[in-house]
Order: sequence, then structure tokens, then C-alpha cells
Amino acid sequence: MDVSARKRSFQPSRSWIVLTTGLLVLCAAACDPPGKPGPAEIAPENIVDFQTLYGQNCAACHGADGKNGPGRIINDPLYLAVLPRDTLRQIIQYGRPGTSMPAWDQREGGPLSPKQINALVNGIENNWAKPVHFATAFPSYTGQGTTGDSGRGQKLFLRDCFACHGPGARVGTVTGADYVSLVTDQMLRTSIIVGRPDLGMPDYRFLNLGHVLSDQDIADLVAFLSSKRPAGITAMYESAQNRINESQSGQQGGSTGQHVNESGSGQGGVLTKGNEGSGTGPGSPRQQKNEGNKSTGSSSLGGPK
Ligand code: HEC
Ligand code: HEC
Repeated sequence: MDVSARKRSFQPSRSWIVLTTGLLVLCAAACDPPGKPGPAEIAPENIVDFQTLYGQNCAACHGADGKNGPGRIINDPLYLAVLPRDTLRQIIQYGRPGTSMPAWDQREGGPLSPKQINALVNGIENNWAKPVHFATAFPSYTGQGTTGDSGRGQKLFLRDCFACHGPGARVGTVTGADYVSLVTDQMLRTSIIVGRPDLGMPDYRFLNLGHVLSDQDIADLVAFLSSKRPAGITAMYESAQNRINESQSGQQGGSTGQHVNESGSGQGGVLTKGNEGSGTGPGSPRQQKNEGNKSTGSSSLGGPK
């Protein structure tokens, strides 16, 4: 950009400068509502710095640094290993209709451009994904194709969850209609697969006293929890998700630049995601050593009531 040309076209007088500077100083002190970006700041639609985007749009619910928030943990290597990158992008684009997770894509009425959503996806993957060791095939993110059995899920719940989530237990209940009405089946499924390592809930590898929960076990548990929700709300979540899936398949092949970092440098050569699309299966390049996924103490922040 030719700065000198712009300078030449506008030559303000000295007194004009003094006057405007004075007004600006006054205004900075008195007129602007707090938090309003000053003239020197980048316009919100041009921000592509991950930390800024995440801090401004996501941290309030998902926690500063992606954990310890009232909403689901995102800064978790196990979660990011199970979640296909395209699905992460789709969740950010469309949100979770009917819950407090809004759509972020401008084309869906949200505030962010495709470029900014790319920056979020890449930032989350590059900063928070780490190699994870899976002894066996890990569960698929969506569990598509597995039908849950609510009766069996109830038995599993008594076996694997009751100690922490039963009445009077130290963690809140997750079987109340008011709680399960607020969350989608996917959110319940995600919770069972990856737990809440930031708040002390173990993941699917440890929930059953060290025995891995199968895809079927997880589907059964979700079916049980889901059965506590009024059918109308479940139908609303399902039709919203179907609409998103349809809209997504219509978009396939569109938007270039989506895979900016797909073949990325991959820290240590092991980070490239091997579970795109299917979200399942052994042999993922991500199946490496797992560190930093230990459960820490509990917290009363948000979560189930
Ligand atoms: C107002 C609160 C709120 C804000 C802000 C918010 N989220 Fe969410 N988010 C939620 C809730 C609630 C859910 C779970 C919804 C459900 O029940 O499926 C969720 C779900 C998600 C999930 C999927 C979790 C799963 O089930 O696997 C991802 C990923 C996510 N959000 C990322 C983001 C990102 C990135 C941002 C910022 C651009 C963001 N969220 C901003 C509330 C929020
Ligand atoms: C060792 C204790 C423990 C066990 C066992 C346990 N949970 Fe949890 N669970 C927690 C804690 C702690 C939280 C976080 C509570 C909070 O948000 O304050 C939690 C949160 C949850 C949430 C909300 C997740 C979120 O991100 O807000 C769901 C859903 C849930 N648990 C379901 C289950 C199910 C289903 C089982 C059994 C398969 C189970 N839990 C077993 C301790 C446990």
C-alpha cells in the first residue's frame, strides 16, 4: 500500500491536529464505553490471531486456555484425537442449535469469517492436540451406526457412573430431565468418551474400573441418559443435526483454503490427523504416547446440576 500517496492527499493544518487530538484524548477518557476498540486496534473482522479469537469468543464458556470452563473442555489431547478436524470445523460453523453454543459462521448468522474459523481450527489443533496412546481402537466421535439400548445403559450407569453421579454423590446428577434437556446426545457421548480431565472425571478407558468402554457401551449409556429428556427436545436436537449434516454434504468440495494446515508440519511428525471423516479405527498416526491427560482435582464450576 502506498502510504506516501495517501499522506499527500490530505494535509491537515496544525490547529486541526491539536483540536482533534484534544477531542480524542477527552473521548478516550470519557465518551467511549469500556471495551470499545480504539482506532489503533485491528477491526474485529480482521482478527486472525488464535489467542485473541479464542479469548474473545470461546473462553467464557470453554474456559481460558480451553479447560476448567463451565462448557466442555477443548484443550484435551484425547478429545482432539477422537474428534475429526472437519467435524471440529463444522461444530464451530453451525454451533449446536437449541443449546447455548451458537453458530459462529457469518453464513449462519454468526460473527466470524471462514478465515477466522480456519484460524480457530488450526489454533486449537496446533496448540492443544498431542499424540495419544490408544491400546485398542478408540471410539468414534459420533457413534454413527450404533443404536443404543437404554435398559442396558441404565445397568452400565449404575456400574460406572453412580458412585460419582448418583443422588447425594459428590458430583451433580446427570440423569435429571432439566440437565439432559440442556445438552445434546453428542455432548453426552463426548463426555463419556473423554470425561472431564480438568474436573476429575475419568475417560472411557478408566470409567469401568480400567476396562475400556466399547462403542456399544457408550451408545447404551447415551440412550439411557437421553431417555430422561422430553421426546420433543430430543427430536428438536436430531432435526437440527440432520439439517447441519445435509447442509454440510451440500457444501462438500466448496470453500477452498479450508485445509490450510491439513498436511501441517505436525510437531514431532506424529500430529497429522489420521482419523478424518470416519473418526475411528486403530492405526491412526495419533496413536502415540499419552501425557498430560491426568485427572486433577474436582471443581464446582458449571457442569451438571
Ligand atoms: C455461550 C457459551 C458458549 C460459547 C461462547 C461457545 N461455546 Fe462451544 N459449546 C457450548 C455448549 C453449551 C456446548 C455443548 C452443546 C451441546 O449440548 O451439544 C458447546 C460445544 C462445543 C464443542 C463440541 C463439544 C462436543 O460435544 O464435542 C466445541 C468443539 C465447541 N463448543 C467449540 C467452541 C468454540 C471454538 C467457541 C468459540 C468460537 C465456542 N465453542 C463458544 C457453549 C459455548
Ligand atoms: C470419578 C467420578 C466420576 C465418574 C465415575 C463419572 N463422572 Fe461424570 N463427571 C465427574 C466430574 C467431576 C464432572 C465435572 C462436574 C462439574 O462440571 O463440576 C463430571 C461431568 C459429567 C458430565 C458433564 C460433562 C461436562 O463437560 O460438563 C456428564 C454428562 C457426565 N459426567 C456423565 C458421566 C457418565 C455417563 C458416567 C459413567 C459412564 C460418569 N460421568 C462417571 C465425575 C465422574
